[in-house]
Amino acid sequence: MSKSSSHHGEAQPLSAQGGPPLRGRVRVPGDKSISHRAMIFGLLAVGETTVEGLLEGEDVLRTAEACRALGATMERTGEGAWRIQGVGVGGLREPAGVLDFGNAGTGSRLMMGVVGGHGITATFDGDASLRKRPMRRILDPLTRMGAQVLSEAEGGRCPITLKGAIDPVPIEYRTPVASAQIKSAVLLAGLNAPGRTTVIETEASRDHTEKMLAYFGARVTVTPEGEHGRRIVLEGRPELKPAHVVVPADPSSAAFPIVAALVTPGSDIVVEGVMMNPLRTGLLTSLREMGADIEEIGRRVEGGEEVADLRVRHSALRGVDVPAGRAPSMIDEYPVLAVAASFASGETRMRGLHELRVKESDRLQAVADGLAANGVEHRIEGDDLIVQGGAGVVRGGGTVKTHLDHRIAMSFLVMGLASQRPVTVDDKTMIATSFPAFEGLMTGLGAVFKAA
Ligand code: S3P
Repeated sequence: MSKSSSHHGEAQPLSAQGGPPLRGRVRVPGDKSISHRAMIFGLLAVGETTVEGLLEGEDVLRTAEACRALGATMERTGEGAWRIQGVGVGGLREPAGVLDFGNAGTGSRLMMGVVGGHGITATFDGDASLRKRPMRRILDPLTRMGAQVLSEAEGGRCPITLKGAIDPVPIEYRTPVASAQIKSAVLLAGLNAPGRTTVIETEASRDHTEKMLAYFGARVTVTPEGEHGRRIVLEGRPELKPAHVVVPADPSSAAFPIVAALVTPGSDIVVEGVMMNPLRTGLLTSLREMGADIEEIGRRVEGGEEVADLRVRHSALRGVDVPAGRAPSMIDEYPVLAVAASFASGETRMRGLHELRVKESDRLQAVADGLAANGVEHRIEGDDLIVQGGAGVVRGGGTVKTHLDHRIAMSFLVMGLASQRPVTVDDKTMIATSFPAFEGLMTGLGAVFKAA
């Protein structure tokens, strides 16, 4: 990667190497999905919303900035603690400048839904990664609701100028792929539409938007649809009541210390308060099928979500077949599952990974290239990734291109903690988008990193 392609202008390579067993207790930062939504619902409620445990990563801070541009008062009152004065559904101000979402697909897409349902015009932009990501999937339903795309880059990409509908039309929308971002954009636009907005999904995706809609006082019903799907119906034009949101620890961030402990001999760690929402726990299911020793301690409810402390011990993993239907519940965890699979005995097949092609990078290719650089046998067959595990032995020694993708960076650093030779990632800076404390937290458990 050229130096200029890092978001800070200067790429910062980092290596991970084999060290002592990982030991200790950690708490990973707040859930990214819920953190974005807490800011947005704070904007859309009338009065003062308070948030604790917010993930203060760059992605979420961009969303906070956008909420400010749309009229909310956003005030940080302590670590992870925020106070928001919202303007209410229908009360948004037209932003003066471009809304720059940096690397954040979730922030930009959810906010397109918000703007699409309001009679204001806004321009959405971001970094080189965000500018490559497909936005038609969001713009299509929004234009059906009456929004207009005034300008866009080729292929429906950012920068995009969107003119929201003054009188949005409530629609019934069947999402073409299982995506919480599409579902959420339609529901957020539907907030300012008279009557019922319906989203139908054939595979259930994460349900944080529906839950938060209800929590802030909207009328929303969720019923099963087909074997694995859901129908979500929202009554438009509610007055959202301000609320106190407690953000649980992000299972997608917990994934990194969990897999690190599983593959590093002698490890025994506890990751505290991890959100156990069943639409987010596909990785734990897959790891347990592989023979992972993950013990749940003290299941409880925090901030409306089930959480548990997870005790994780080094385990001899074996390859498994991960069904495509599980993808929505672990969509962001495939890179680190591929790392776990590299240390397993036998073959792991991960099915139905087409959506990985349109994440912060083409994650399917980025993972395959990272495996190749580190001597892990693998192949891509259609939408499936097949990894041949080394039964505890991975050569390492490679340099991995991260393509502005935080999860590629963290996944391959985890690989380096247990491989024979160090693994280097070409740029660690994007880790700050979702898990700014990653390096320090892992080092506290015993991990050894070196600036490369
Ligand atoms: C997210 C949904 C997922 C996920 C992303 C966060 C959300 O994207 O990959 O990191 O908060 O709604 P898709 O909805 O596009 O699958």
